[in-house]
Amino acid sequence: MPKLLFVCLGNICRSPAADGVATALSRKLGLNWQIESAGTGAWHAGAPPDPRMVAAAAQRGLDLSGLRARQAVARDFLDVDHIFAMDRQNLADLRQIQPPGAPARLQLFLSEGDVPDPYYGGDQGFEQVLDLIESRMPQLFDSIQRG
Ligand code: 4NP
Repeated sequence: MPKLLFVCLGNICRSPAADGVATALSRKLGLNWQIESAGTGAWHAGAPPDPRMVAAAAQRGLDLSGLRARQAVARDFLDVDHIFAMDRQNLADLRQIQPPGAPARLQLFLSEGDVPDPYYGGDQGFEQVLDLIESRMPQLFDSIQRG
């Protein structure tokens, strides 16, 4: 079973949303994929997702309240199959800790461009993040299933 890791900066907004959307899609498709999220930064380690994202996701039937933030570490590149960076800075930061020859496939979550960081903006930013993630996730699952 593939293991997926979604990574943003704080692991309290974008990557927990991707975790929730991917977990729901995995269940809906009868897959049993292992799905996790992490942040390149450690500021929020141990904290639940941002309450604004928890609320926006709950309106779409996704419960993010049990998630807790952690920092992405080099070991993740040995433990998971796919790592998805939510923006290009996250991708660059992950490359800094990527062990040479580690098996995980590292790529940007969107085929091009960034999932914008909603942290300092208004509620609309959280909706936009969820829209982007929900529209991208089925393609991403297809590409993993095709190998
Ligand atoms: P995230 O958003 O990377 O989508 O979780 C952020 C959360 C917290 C901060 C920045 C971005 N922060 O600076 O604390």
